[in-house]
Amino acid sequence: MELQRSRSISLTLILATWLLLMATSIGPAECIRRKRQYPGADESRKGEVSTFKYTAANCRAHTASLADFGGVGDGATSNTAAFRAAVSHLSQFSSSGGGMLFVPAGRWLTGPFNLTSSFTLFLDRDAVILATQDTSEWPIIEPLPSYGRGRDGPGGRYSSLIGGSNLTDVIITGNNGTIDGQGEFWWSKFHGNKLKYTRGYLIELMHSNQIFISNLTLLNSPAWNIHPVYSSNIVVSGITILAPVHSPNTDGINPDSCSNVRIEDCYIVSGDDCVAIKSGWDEYGISYGMPSQHIIIRRLTCISPTSAVIALGSEMSGGIQDVRAEDITAIDSESGVRIKTAVGRGAYVKDIYVRRMNLNTMKWVFWMTGNYKSHPDDKYDPSAIPVVDGISYSEVVAYNVTMAARLEGIPNAPFTGICISNVTVEFVKPSKLPWYCTDVKGVSSGVTPAACAPLLDEGAGAAPCPFPSDTLPMDAVEFQQCTYMKSNDA
Ligand SMILES: *[C@@H]1O[C@H](CO)[C@@H](O)[C@H](O)[C@H]1NC(C)=O
Ligand SMILES: *[C@@H]1O[C@H](CO)[C@@H](O)[C@H](O)[C@H]1NC(C)=O
Ligand SMILES: *[C@@H]1O[C@H](CO)[C@@H](O)[C@H](O)[C@H]1NC(C)=O
Ligand SMILES: *[C@@H]1O[C@H](CO)[C@@H](O)[C@H](O)[C@H]1NC(C)=O
Ligand SMILES: *[C@@H]1O[C@H](CO)[C@@H](O)[C@H](O)[C@H]1NC(C)=O
Ligand SMILES: *[C@@H]1O[C@H](CO)[C@@H](O)[C@H](O)[C@H]1NC(C)=O
Repeated sequence: MELQRSRSISLTLILATWLLLMATSIGPAECIRRKRQYPGADESRKGEVSTFKYTAANCRAHTASLADFGGVGDGATSNTAAFRAAVSHLSQFSSSGGGMLFVPAGRWLTGPFNLTSSFTLFLDRDAVILATQDTSEWPIIEPLPSYGRGRDGPGGRYSSLIGGSNLTDVIITGNNGTIDGQGEFWWSKFHGNKLKYTRGYLIELMHSNQIFISNLTLLNSPAWNIHPVYSSNIVVSGITILAPVHSPNTDGINPDSCSNVRIEDCYIVSGDDCVAIKSGWDEYGISYGMPSQHIIIRRLTCISPTSAVIALGSEMSGGIQDVRAEDITAIDSESGVRIKTAVGRGAYVKDIYVRRMNLNTMKWVFWMTGNYKSHPDDKYDPSAIPVVDGISYSEVVAYNVTMAARLEGIPNAPFTGICISNVTVEFVKPSKLPWYCTDVKGVSSGVTPAACAPLLDEGAGAAPCPFPSDTLPMDAVEFQQCTYMKSNDA
């Protein structure tokens, strides 16, 4: 097997070299045009050595450029085989210093491909990975076990553009290079009910440990953008995510049954929740039983007119606990940190701490929903009642708001331990009913206008709502300076 594989790699390389030689032997006019259009392809040409510094959790001993594998960055040629061959080649270094795939300037059209362990995918500044719209290039994969079906419909789902399973130490980073999902094609098919399978995500890493995604721009994902699932020890940092505000399900960052997550310095404009923490859906999530926990979110800026800045749920059937969000800015979004759950979900949402939110133009500052109407099928257990307890919000300033709060727990199973302190809400126009609360219990202090009666007012002098002062394992993760040296070991 091994021998066969390396033989086919050498064949690919010989072919690539031959193509390169052919290209250079074409008339000079042709050559000059190629150079002008795709300068990056020349930078990384065999024989030339390029070096630069970048920051990452881990550096790699072996490097290769996509251009070495026959990649063509013209925005039209499929590079699926080149990406797959490059990752396959670099996977041989997983236990000997790791490998890095450099994606040079250019527009690299591709179908889905998977990453490997001890691996870095680096996108140079003017590199754009473009998701192909040729559906035959998108493999159909099994639904997630904790969901039981695809999110868009029963059955399987299209693979994610960049995927990987059972990996350790994966880095996707760059000099603010771009991954463009070209989602318009998928959104219109989705709206027209013309898709047989659930849309793919832009990045999905499953059953993986040590995932670092940083310094990139993600555009127009077919659906969710970043989806780590059944994974732990994750940093998402310095990511810009852009999608039209009415595009369907273009959630930004969705940690799903994940532990030890740090999301920071991200700017997200999307058609769905900017960040959504999840852990499986009804009976499938309950039986999988894997929570999302120990999650830090800081310095997030969000624009999401029809959705939440941070959503907890609605799929939370493995449980969600210990989420710490701070320094959150939102403009023109529907709600701040929203809890979404329903009878049938089971599990819990507990120990959620939020402080320092600055919000401008919101429908609801606080929103909790105990009857979120979405189930995978009708087999959910009506006695699986989710517990929502220990939810703290403090230091919130919100302007141009329609309603301060809409807090709806579950009848006979109220949401408890809600604490809201030091909050100022200013309205678009005077509101007759600024707070609407049912089936919730807790306390409030220093809230203007005063909170609803079930949140007992402890007076402006009361202690603020809690925010943990201990540090989490992900706080300690540091990044190092690495040097990229384009070697010709590829
Ligand atoms: C992102 O890039 C900035 C410089 O542009 C750098 O300071 C930072 O460490 C990088 N972040 C990561 C996680 O690599
Ligand atoms: C990527 O990995 C997933 C999960 O292991 C697998 O189902 C899929 O077929 C792989 N895709 C490719 C293109 O190899
Ligand atoms: C990946 O890990 C999961 C969870 O440990 C396991 O169930 C699955 O079989 C593994 N898949 C592969 C391809 O090793
Ligand atoms: C990265 O690119 C996006 C899109 O062009 C831009 O909005 C953002 O400011 C850039 N980020 C950095 C750190 O340069
Ligand atoms: C109340 O919140 C404001 C900002 O939202 C902050 O400046 C102030 O220090 C807070 N007061 C207390 C007592 O925490
Ligand atoms: C205030 O919110 C309304 C929507 O409720 C919006 O139309 C208006 O532009 C906002 N005004 C400002 C100053 O942001």
